[in-house]
Amino acid sequence: MDDTLYEEAVKVRENAYSPYSNFKVGAVLLSKSGIIFTGCNVENSSYGLTSCAERNAIFSAVTAGEQEFSKLVVVGDTEDVTVPCGACLQVMAEFFDAETEILLANTAGLKKTYKFSELLPVSFNLGDDRNV
Ligand code: THU
Repeated sequence: MDDTLYEEAVKVRENAYSPYSNFKVGAVLLSKSGIIFTGCNVENSSYGLTSCAERNAIFSAVTAGEQEFSKLVVVGDTEDVTVPCGACLQVMAEFFDAETEILLANTAGLKKTYKFSELLPVSFNLGDDRNV
């Protein structure tokens, strides 16, 4: 399963629109119901409007009605594995559990598995029932 998801992430990475950074990222998200969602980074000439691969995958899944996830795969052309940015981790905190599996990889095939709480042990939240 991990290999299939990784190959999907490698494939969707090719769709990245990244003329400014020349850095392509692919993300694959598996919902608890077994559906696969994909995302790639989409940049903009107004740089701050860039949307990361991970967030695009999550927003695509939520748009389709899925809010519970068992696994995320991220791949980029880094020497070590590609690690999600802080903004994406905060978005993940909205939907992921501490135990949600995150497979980080690079295009050379290096893969490292984390649980979400290892990547973001604590995060912003309102701390009361406005969160529910
Ligand atoms: N990027 C992602 O898509 N995901 C990450 O986890 C880190 C960064 C994108 C944003 C930008 O298009 C490019 O990679 C370089 O920062």
